[in-house]
Amino acid sequence: MAARGNRKIIPVADPAALAKMAADRLAARISTNSGRVAVCLTGGSSPRQLYALLASETYRSRIPWDRVHWFIGDERFVLASEPLNNMGAARRIFLDQCAPASNIHPILTELSDPDASAEQYAGELKSFYGADQLDPARPLFDLVLMGVGSDGHTASLFPGDPALHESARWTVGVPKANVEPYVPRVTLTLPALGSCREMLFEAAGPEKRAILARVFGGDNLPANRARSSGETVWLVDQAALPESFRGR
Ligand code: 6PG
Repeated sequence: MAARGNRKIIPVADPAALAKMAADRLAARISTNSGRVAVCLTGGSSPRQLYALLASETYRSRIPWDRVHWFIGDERFVLASEPLNNMGAARRIFLDQCAPASNIHPILTELSDPDASAEQYAGELKSFYGADQLDPARPLFDLVLMGVGSDGHTASLFPGDPALHESARWTVGVPKANVEPYVPRVTLTLPALGSCREMLFEAAGPEKRAILARVFGGDNLPANRARSSGETVWLVDQAALPESFRGR
Protein backbone atom coordinates (compact mmCIF):
# COMPACT_ATOMS: atom_id res chain seq x y z
CA MET A 1 0.00 0.00 0.00
CA ALA A 2 1.33 3.44 -0.89
CA ALA A 3 2.19 5.61 2.11
CA ARG A 4 -0.58 7.93 3.26
CA GLY A 5 0.15 11.38 1.92
CA ASN A 6 1.32 10.23 -1.48
CA ARG A 7 -0.54 11.94 -4.25
CA LYS A 8 -0.18 11.20 -7.92
CA ILE A 9 -1.17 13.86 -10.45
CA ILE A 10 -1.95 12.54 -13.93
CA PRO A 11 -2.34 15.19 -16.66
CA VAL A 12 -4.76 14.33 -19.49
CA ALA A 13 -5.65 16.22 -22.66
CA ASP A 14 -9.29 17.19 -22.13
CA PRO A 15 -12.54 16.20 -20.37
CA ALA A 16 -13.17 13.31 -22.79
CA ALA A 17 -9.74 11.80 -22.13
CA LEU A 18 -10.24 12.39 -18.41
CA ALA A 19 -13.56 10.51 -18.38
CA LYS A 20 -12.03 7.63 -20.33
CA MET A 21 -9.06 7.35 -17.98
CA ALA A 22 -11.37 7.47 -14.96
CA ALA A 23 -13.57 4.73 -16.46
CA ASP A 24 -10.51 2.58 -17.22
CA ARG A 25 -9.20 3.05 -13.67
CA LEU A 26 -12.59 2.21 -12.21
CA ALA A 27 -12.87 -0.96 -14.32
CA ALA A 28 -9.29 -1.96 -13.46
CA ARG A 29 -9.89 -1.34 -9.76
CA ILE A 30 -13.04 -3.47 -9.81
CA SER A 31 -11.17 -6.27 -11.58
CA THR A 32 -8.69 -6.56 -8.68
CA ASN A 33 -11.49 -7.59 -6.32
CA SER A 34 -13.27 -10.87 -7.08
CA GLY A 35 -15.77 -10.38 -4.24
CA ARG A 36 -18.19 -7.63 -3.31
CA VAL A 37 -16.99 -4.23 -4.55
CA ALA A 38 -17.86 -0.81 -3.05
CA VAL A 39 -17.59 2.39 -5.10
CA CYS A 40 -18.32 5.82 -3.64
CA LEU A 41 -19.55 8.28 -6.26
CA THR A 42 -19.43 12.06 -6.16
CA GLY A 43 -21.72 14.91 -7.15
CA GLY A 44 -21.26 18.03 -9.23
CA SER A 45 -20.75 18.23 -12.96
CA SER A 46 -17.22 16.78 -13.19
CA PRO A 47 -18.13 13.07 -13.09
CA ARG A 48 -21.08 13.22 -15.51
CA GLN A 49 -19.07 12.28 -18.61
CA LEU A 50 -17.60 9.34 -16.71
CA TYR A 51 -21.07 8.22 -15.62
CA ALA A 52 -22.31 8.35 -19.23
CA LEU A 53 -19.31 6.29 -20.33
CA LEU A 54 -20.07 3.61 -17.75
CA ALA A 55 -23.48 3.10 -19.35
CA SER A 56 -21.94 2.76 -22.84
CA GLU A 57 -21.51 -0.75 -24.23
CA THR A 58 -17.70 -0.73 -23.91
CA TYR A 59 -17.75 -0.25 -20.16
CA ARG A 60 -21.15 -1.70 -19.35
CA SER A 61 -19.90 -5.12 -20.40
CA ARG A 62 -16.70 -4.76 -18.33
CA ILE A 63 -18.46 -4.16 -15.01
CA PRO A 64 -19.83 -7.11 -12.96
CA TRP A 65 -22.91 -5.12 -11.95
CA ASP A 66 -24.36 -7.78 -9.65
CA ARG A 67 -21.46 -7.51 -7.23
CA VAL A 68 -20.65 -3.77 -7.34
CA HIS A 69 -22.30 -1.53 -4.72
CA TRP A 70 -22.64 2.22 -5.33
CA PHE A 71 -22.54 4.79 -2.53
CA ILE A 72 -22.35 8.60 -2.62
CA GLY A 73 -19.75 10.74 -0.84
CA ASP A 74 -22.04 13.70 -0.24
CA GLU A 75 -25.59 14.72 -0.92
CA ARG A 76 -27.48 17.96 -1.26
CA PHE A 77 -30.45 17.89 1.12
CA VAL A 78 -33.13 18.03 -1.58
CA LEU A 79 -35.58 15.32 -2.62
CA ALA A 80 -34.16 12.44 -4.66
CA SER A 81 -36.30 13.46 -7.63
CA GLU A 82 -34.85 16.99 -7.80
CA PRO A 83 -32.16 17.75 -10.41
CA LEU A 84 -29.72 18.92 -7.70
CA ASN A 85 -29.72 15.54 -5.96
CA ASN A 86 -26.30 13.92 -6.55
CA MET A 87 -27.36 10.27 -6.41
CA GLY A 88 -30.45 11.14 -8.46
CA ALA A 89 -28.17 12.43 -11.25
CA ALA A 90 -25.99 9.30 -11.12
CA ARG A 91 -29.12 7.13 -11.24
CA ARG A 92 -30.51 8.93 -14.26
CA ILE A 93 -27.21 8.87 -16.16
CA PHE A 94 -26.19 5.26 -15.55
CA LEU A 95 -27.17 3.44 -12.37
CA ASP A 96 -30.85 2.86 -13.06
CA GLN A 97 -30.05 1.31 -16.46
CA CYS A 98 -27.15 -0.81 -15.28
CA ALA A 99 -27.14 -1.63 -11.57
CA PRO A 100 -29.54 -3.77 -9.51
CA ALA A 101 -31.63 -1.43 -7.30
CA SER A 102 -30.45 -3.25 -4.17
CA ASN A 103 -26.83 -2.30 -5.00
CA ILE A 104 -27.60 1.45 -5.06
CA HIS A 105 -27.15 3.12 -1.66
CA PRO A 106 -28.45 6.71 -1.68
CA ILE A 107 -28.30 9.12 1.24
CA LEU A 108 -31.95 9.49 2.23
CA THR A 109 -33.05 13.11 2.05
CA GLU A 110 -36.69 12.44 2.93
CA LEU A 111 -35.74 12.35 6.63
CA SER A 112 -36.40 15.24 9.03
CA ASP A 113 -33.00 16.96 8.74
CA PRO A 114 -29.41 16.43 7.51
CA ASP A 115 -28.23 15.10 10.89
CA ALA A 116 -30.86 12.36 10.91
CA SER A 117 -29.99 11.54 7.34
CA ALA A 118 -26.26 11.42 8.16
CA GLU A 119 -26.89 9.07 11.06
CA GLN A 120 -29.05 6.79 8.94
CA TYR A 121 -26.34 6.62 6.25
CA ALA A 122 -23.62 5.90 8.78
CA GLY A 123 -25.73 2.94 9.91
CA GLU A 124 -26.06 1.76 6.31
CA LEU A 125 -22.31 2.04 5.72
CA LYS A 126 -21.50 0.21 8.96
CA SER A 127 -23.91 -2.56 8.19
CA PHE A 128 -22.39 -2.98 4.71
CA TYR A 129 -18.87 -2.92 6.16
CA GLY A 130 -19.80 -5.31 8.94
CA ALA A 131 -18.19 -3.29 11.76
CA ASP A 132 -18.52 0.01 13.61
CA GLN A 133 -14.83 0.86 13.45
CA LEU A 134 -12.74 1.27 10.33
CA ASP A 135 -9.86 -1.17 10.12
CA PRO A 136 -6.92 0.31 8.16
CA ALA A 137 -6.17 -3.16 6.82
CA ARG A 138 -9.67 -3.53 5.35
CA PRO A 139 -10.78 -0.37 3.50
CA LEU A 140 -14.48 0.50 3.33
CA PHE A 141 -14.39 1.35 -0.37
CA ASP A 142 -12.51 0.00 -3.35
CA LEU A 143 -12.71 3.38 -5.06
CA VAL A 144 -13.87 6.85 -3.97
CA LEU A 145 -14.52 9.47 -6.65
CA MET A 146 -13.99 13.11 -5.70
CA GLY A 147 -14.22 16.60 -7.18
CA VAL A 148 -12.92 19.97 -6.05
CA GLY A 149 -14.83 23.24 -5.75
CA SER A 150 -13.51 26.76 -6.40
CA ASP A 151 -13.05 27.28 -2.63
CA GLY A 152 -11.08 24.03 -2.20
CA HIS A 153 -13.96 22.01 -0.80
CA THR A 154 -14.38 18.37 -1.62
CA ALA A 155 -17.45 16.19 -1.01
CA SER A 156 -19.37 18.65 1.24
CA LEU A 157 -16.36 19.39 3.44
CA PHE A 158 -15.90 23.15 3.26
CA PRO A 159 -12.83 25.17 4.36
CA GLY A 160 -13.01 26.05 8.04
CA ASP A 161 -15.90 23.69 8.77
CA PRO A 162 -15.55 21.76 12.07
CA ALA A 163 -16.64 18.64 10.12
CA LEU A 164 -13.10 18.57 8.73
CA HIS A 165 -11.79 17.59 12.15
CA GLU A 166 -14.26 14.79 12.68
CA SER A 167 -12.32 11.69 13.61
CA ALA A 168 -15.02 9.37 14.94
CA ARG A 169 -18.20 9.83 12.90
CA TRP A 170 -18.37 8.48 9.34
CA THR A 171 -20.95 11.02 8.18
CA VAL A 172 -22.16 14.43 9.33
CA GLY A 173 -24.93 16.86 8.48
CA VAL A 174 -23.74 20.18 7.02
CA PRO A 175 -26.23 22.97 7.78
CA LYS A 176 -24.75 25.51 5.38
CA ALA A 177 -22.88 25.15 2.09
CA ASN A 178 -20.04 27.53 1.25
CA VAL A 179 -20.82 27.59 -2.47
CA GLU A 180 -23.82 27.09 -4.75
CA PRO A 181 -26.18 25.37 -4.46
CA TYR A 182 -26.76 26.84 -1.00
CA VAL A 183 -28.70 23.90 0.38
CA PRO A 184 -27.79 21.91 3.49
CA ARG A 185 -25.74 18.80 2.80
CA VAL A 186 -24.82 15.44 4.21
CA THR A 187 -21.22 14.38 3.78
CA LEU A 188 -18.93 11.50 4.54
CA THR A 189 -16.03 12.60 6.75
CA LEU A 190 -12.32 12.44 5.91
CA PRO A 191 -11.74 9.13 7.76
CA ALA A 192 -14.64 7.43 5.95
CA LEU A 193 -13.74 8.80 2.52
CA GLY A 194 -10.09 7.97 3.09
CA SER A 195 -10.82 4.34 3.92
CA CYS A 196 -10.38 3.19 0.33
CA ARG A 197 -7.93 1.45 -1.95
CA GLU A 198 -8.05 4.38 -4.37
CA MET A 199 -9.30 7.96 -4.14
CA LEU A 200 -9.75 9.40 -7.62
CA PHE A 201 -10.20 13.14 -8.15
CA GLU A 202 -11.40 14.56 -11.45
CA ALA A 203 -10.69 18.23 -12.27
CA ALA A 204 -11.16 19.86 -15.66
CA GLY A 205 -11.52 23.32 -17.15
CA PRO A 206 -9.72 26.66 -16.68
CA GLU A 207 -11.93 27.63 -13.74
CA LYS A 208 -10.21 24.92 -11.64
CA ARG A 209 -6.66 26.07 -12.34
CA ALA A 210 -6.31 28.64 -9.53
CA ILE A 211 -7.63 26.35 -6.81
CA LEU A 212 -5.50 23.43 -8.04
CA ALA A 213 -2.39 25.62 -7.76
CA ARG A 214 -3.30 26.15 -4.09
CA VAL A 215 -4.21 22.51 -3.40
CA PHE A 216 -1.07 21.12 -5.05
CA GLY A 217 0.98 23.89 -3.44
CA GLY A 218 0.04 22.43 -0.06
CA ASP A 219 -2.58 24.89 1.23
CA ASN A 220 -4.61 23.59 4.15
CA LEU A 221 -7.76 22.99 2.13
CA PRO A 222 -10.24 20.10 2.34
CA ALA A 223 -9.27 18.83 -1.13
CA ASN A 224 -5.65 18.67 -0.02
CA ARG A 225 -6.46 16.96 3.26
CA ALA A 226 -8.58 14.28 1.63
CA ARG A 227 -6.25 11.32 1.20
CA SER A 228 -6.72 7.64 0.69
CA SER A 229 -5.22 5.05 2.99
CA GLY A 230 -4.18 3.51 -0.35
CA GLU A 231 -3.61 5.51 -3.54
CA THR A 232 -4.66 9.15 -4.08
CA VAL A 233 -4.81 10.05 -7.76
CA TRP A 234 -5.75 13.33 -9.42
CA LEU A 235 -6.77 13.32 -13.09
CA VAL A 236 -6.35 16.88 -14.34
CA ASP A 237 -6.98 18.14 -17.86
CA GLN A 238 -4.65 20.60 -19.62
CA ALA A 239 -6.96 23.56 -19.06
CA ALA A 240 -7.01 22.97 -15.30
CA LEU A 241 -3.33 22.13 -14.87
CA PRO A 242 -1.49 24.90 -12.95
CA GLU A 243 1.43 26.52 -14.79
CA SER A 244 4.06 25.00 -12.52
CA PHE A 245 2.84 21.46 -13.32
CA ARG A 246 2.96 21.85 -17.10
CA GLY A 247 5.53 19.81 -18.95
CA ARG A 248 6.27 17.59 -15.94
C1 6PG B 1 -21.36 18.52 -4.68
C2 6PG B 1 -20.09 17.77 -4.79
C3 6PG B 1 -18.87 18.66 -4.71
C4 6PG B 1 -18.29 18.70 -6.09
C5 6PG B 1 -17.43 19.92 -6.29
C6 6PG B 1 -17.03 20.07 -7.73
O1 6PG B 1 -22.33 17.98 -4.18
O2 6PG B 1 -21.39 19.66 -5.17
O3 6PG B 1 -19.98 16.51 -4.40
O4 6PG B 1 -17.89 18.33 -3.80
O5 6PG B 1 -17.55 17.56 -6.37
O6 6PG B 1 -18.16 21.06 -5.92
O7 6PG B 1 -18.18 20.33 -8.49
P1 6PG B 1 -18.15 20.42 -10.05
O8 6PG B 1 -17.79 19.08 -10.54
O9 6PG B 1 -19.56 20.79 -10.44
O10 6PG B 1 -17.15 21.46 -10.40
